[in-house]
Amino acid sequence: MELPSGPKHESGPSRENRGGDGQGQGSAEARLLVEHGCRVFAVALSAQVLDELLGLSGPGQLIYRQLDVTQRAQWEELAAQLDGGTLHGLVNNAGITQRDRLAEVSLEQLHRVYEVNVAGALLGIQELSSLFTRGSSIVNIGSVAGLSAHYPVAYTTSKWALRGLNQVACMELGPAGIRVNSVHPGFIETAMTNGAKTGFREAAIAETPLGRAGSSEEVANVVLFLLSNLSSFVNGAEIPVDGGQTSHGGAKSISDALK
Ligand SMILES: NC(=O)c1ccc[n+]([C@@H]2O[C@H](COP(=O)([O-])OP(=O)(O)OC[C@H]3O[C@@H](n4cnc5c(N)ncnc54)[C@H](O)[C@@H]3O)[C@@H](O)[C@H]2O)c1
Repeated sequence: MELPSGPKHESGPSRENRGGDGQGQGSAEARLLVEHGCRVFAVALSAQVLDELLGLSGPGQLIYRQLDVTQRAQWEELAAQLDGGTLHGLVNNAGITQRDRLAEVSLEQLHRVYEVNVAGALLGIQELSSLFTRGSSIVNIGSVAGLSAHYPVAYTTSKWALRGLNQVACMELGPAGIRVNSVHPGFIETAMTNGAKTGFREAAIAETPLGRAGSSEEVANVVLFLLSNLSSFVNGAEIPVDGGQTSHGGAKSISDALK
């Protein structure tokens, strides 16, 4: 049996292929879905369609719209634009980080991160729910920071809260045939991780059994699976896409030390 091959990756902490503006996970997901024939409504803060979404080829279609996920009225406008149609999927991908430590983080910072990472996802689910139908699928993009302790307090606690929202939505929407799952990326090369302090990249890769960073495309592949009917009985799952980072419970450094 021949299996489809995934993208090729170097092992080791190479600095090649580092992400940055335009290589976010949301764009990779939109590209992949269009390639697979989906009609994708891509939303982002920018008034202009993002460069990386221009000139997409594929049997599908991309419709771009400016939307701030924290603004209920903007979700309502999107729902009105889609009125009369049905939505097969929703990916709650928008997220921000804030890296202050326990002693420094302010309530304002905590609220802002929650507003985007938690309330943004809640508003999307609430305002689009009337367009979902039996077989629809929602994917929430969490983080390995929501699966264990992590150093940025606001970000970590927001991703744990998003897991709670994921499981509540799974329980409430399941009877209507709507699936809700979450994906927890590890260290992925994007603008978000490019903004981290020196040392973070190497330290994160050192905790990752596969010994390298992941790409936006590798996350997008799992999102596509969760949106598709190939995952028709997968519901309430929390899937790490992290090269094994969260699998060893901190034992990797011990294993490495004893080699
Ligand atoms: N890069 C990583 O290593 C990593 C790891 C774990 C989880 N994640 C999560 O993956 C998701 C995608 O992040 P990314 O790595 O592509 O980083 P990114 O910074 O490239 O993308 C985040 C996107 O969210 C958008 N956004 C922020 N606030 C918004 C708002 N109010 N309304 C609409 N859009 C808004 C930004 O414009 C940006 O396009 C995020 O939820 C992030 O927390 C990333």
